[in-house]
Amino acid sequence: MAKFKVTVNKDTCIGCGACTTQCDNFEMKGGKSVPKKSVVDKPGCNKEAAEICPVDAIKVTEMN
Ligand code: F3S
Repeated sequence: MAKFKVTVNKDTCIGCGACTTQCDNFEMKGGKSVPKKSVVDKPGCNKEAAEICPVDAIKVTEMN
């Protein structure tokens, strides 16, 4: 079954924290968001977090 890679672009993230309220797979470290798990079985709330990020810093991509 496909897995999904979750990344946050640290250069782009402005530390607004919206992703951490949308999805518990994100936490703030040093003012930037970091995924707790960088590989997940389902996009789930990671995808929602990517959609609400104001600077489009979060990517959820299917792995082959
Ligand atoms: Fe950063 Fe976007 Fe989250 S700006 S803190 S990755 S919502």
